[in-house]
Amino acid sequence: MDYKELVLKALGARENSYSPYSKFKVGAAVLTENDLIYTGCNIENASYGATNCAERTAIYKAVSEGHTTIKAIAIVGDTSTHTYPCGICRQVIAEFSTETTDIILVKNENDYIVKTMDEILPGAFTKKDLFK
Ligand code: THU
Repeated sequence: MDYKELVLKALGARENSYSPYSKFKVGAAVLTENDLIYTGCNIENASYGATNCAERTAIYKAVSEGHTTIKAIAIVGDTSTHTYPCGICRQVIAEFSTETTDIILVKNENDYIVKTMDEILPGAFTKKDLFK
């Protein structure tokens, strides 16, 4: 699948990053089961622990609008490399992903790699573990 639009949306969302403390801008764009796109950026706080990552901003926007299945998520942090999501965000992505969800790690609009959930969070604890 061509993820150009999703990648561009993630890069655009990164521009809205509120990161006066770390100065580390992150953007994300989620593609829902019915092909809607929700974007998000990291939002920091003077009380550092209240910071919200870009991935969770985008996912929570989608979920709060009724979309709980993610087809793909594009993430862009440091534009000189492919930034992987933090551990908390990997867990949140896992909650709303399937075996075929694509995790797109973006360096720039022409350079991104695609991973599966199983590659970035093998053996994830999910709802299946609660109902065994
Ligand atoms: N950050 C994200 O937005 N996503 C990640 O997966 C890793 C970290 C943000 C949080 C904080 O605003 C800044 O990057 C530095 O940790």
